[in-house]
Amino acid sequence: MKYSRILGTGSYLPARVMTNADLEAVVDTSDSWIRERTGIEKRHLVSEGECCCDLAEQAARRALEAAGITASDLDLILVATTTPDQFFPSTATLLQRRLDVHGCPAFDLQAVCAGFVYAMDVADKFIRTGAAKRALVVGAETFSRILDWNDRTTCVLFGDGAGAVVLEAADEPGILSTHLHADGAYKDLLQVPGGIGNGHPDARFVQMKGNEVFRIAVTTLGRIVEETLEAAGLTKSDIDWLIPHQANIRIIQATARKLDLPMERVVVTVAEHGNTSSASIPLALDQAVRDGRIRRGETLLMEAFGGGFTWGSVLVRY
Ligand code: ACO
Repeated sequence: MKYSRILGTGSYLPARVMTNADLEAVVDTSDSWIRERTGIEKRHLVSEGECCCDLAEQAARRALEAAGITASDLDLILVATTTPDQFFPSTATLLQRRLDVHGCPAFDLQAVCAGFVYAMDVADKFIRTGAAKRALVVGAETFSRILDWNDRTTCVLFGDGAGAVVLEAADEPGILSTHLHADGAYKDLLQVPGGIGNGHPDARFVQMKGNEVFRIAVTTLGRIVEETLEAAGLTKSDIDWLIPHQANIRIIQATARKLDLPMERVVVTVAEHGNTSSASIPLALDQAVRDGRIRRGETLLMEAFGGGFTWGSVLVRY
């Protein structure tokens, strides 16, 4: 079997909702500023005691159910996350334990907002080489834990959540192509500086130069879309659905314009979810699959851009 295909999808959002109006009580901001600049209206946030693996587990169980398989059928577990529960073990192995799976490889992958696209690429390669037959790929984040709730330039942008897909080996695609890139030169534009041994152990909140990130994200995503179509020998009209990373409605609209795609063919969740980093694409995918918009046989283009910078795309025949 030469390809991998999406067998099932699932997602999960924590119950607590924070609206823009709620945020007005937290920082000096307004509903109209947030809506106009970002398209965000509300976001879901974890409650005390709730962690990344809780979200990942719910999304994974829903994806397994949709795929019609049990966790013991999996032979690879990948979790894309920037907000793991612990330094180690990885969130993927914590999830493996909860799913009562034993022995198959499980690891985390950290590419910030491009994490899900990176994880899909890796899982696809495991399957294409025959190293795995059924892979669980999860994007799960609790960004609210790494936000400075006094910083209005960042805290209004993000939300928590998780999405998952089950991939399985197939004779036909499936995943048509994947494209990954990174350029560490842009570290200072978007980062959480704190870490081990770098002199900033307490700097554990997101720092971002928003308008510079915005500008580079728009041009870079335009390029990745062109690269993806060209490599697959497809034209713009072959794309049925764009499932973009959900950072900002204006970035999403710019990419849709690049594809000459009407917004009705773009899955948009940013208003309800905010930016959930590596969870945003699988959350959007699952929503559009479950409400019947996305149908089998359609061509989906997923793309993402995030801290690093990292960016990439996945082209899928669903
Ligand atoms: N409420 C009210 N005013 C605010 C807020 C807020 N929450 N945040 C900033 N402002 C003010 C600023 O202080 C500034 O005021 P000043 O002109 O008096 O100095 C003014 O609004 C304009 O600030 P800018 O940063 O220039 O606003 P911009 O139009 O660039 O919008 C935003 C900011 C929404 C962050 C935008 O740049 C953006 O979306 N960038 C992309 C960043 C992103 O999405 N990062 C996520 C990770 S990467 C990714 O996923 C793509």
